Amino acid sequence: MQEVYEFLKKAGNYYLATIDGNKPRVRPFGTANIFEGKLYIQTGKRKAVSRQMAANPNIEICTMNEGRWIRIEAEVVNDDRIEAKESMLEAHPELRGMYSASDDNMQVLYLKNAVATIASFTEQPKVIRF
Ligand SMILES: Cc1cc2nc3c(=O)[nH]c(=O)nc-3n(C[C@H](O)[C@H](O)[C@H](O)COP(=O)(O)O)c2cc1C
Repeated sequence: MQEVYEFLKKAGNYYLATIDGNKPRVRPFGTANIFEGKLYIQTGKRKAVSRQMAANPNIEICTMNEGRWIRIEAEVVNDDRIEAKESMLEAHPELRGMYSASDDNMQVLYLKNAVATIASFTEQPKVIRF
């Protein structure tokens, strides 16, 4: 999981796909944090992406860095604990202008049953489960 986290950090941003009824939705995301051994992302509960993940927790993440790309399929689990949100704000202080750990909008979710595949045109794919 550390390798997956470092890949996301080096890439800087990634694309998060959700399911909206029977339609895919995808948008850029940048938040990633390891807390209590789990990989978390962050969003706002008022966003459509949050509603989609509540209705269907299956997501996929994709990004690329230095000629390699990663796809992470996973389920997301909402974590409403203040300490999980505070850890995210410490990792991403730029969020503090929009969110606080105690507001009614800030949301963090961790990935479970995740399968990450790192691939390139020249190497065998590497699969990491966490
Ligand atoms: C580079 C970049 C990184 C972003 N990172 C996040 C993020 O980590 N969390 C988030 O909720 N929105 C993030 N956004 C904003 C979302 O892409 C935007 O709010 C999007 O519209 C949310 O999807 P939705 O419209 O389906 O709800 C980011 C935008 C950009 C351009």
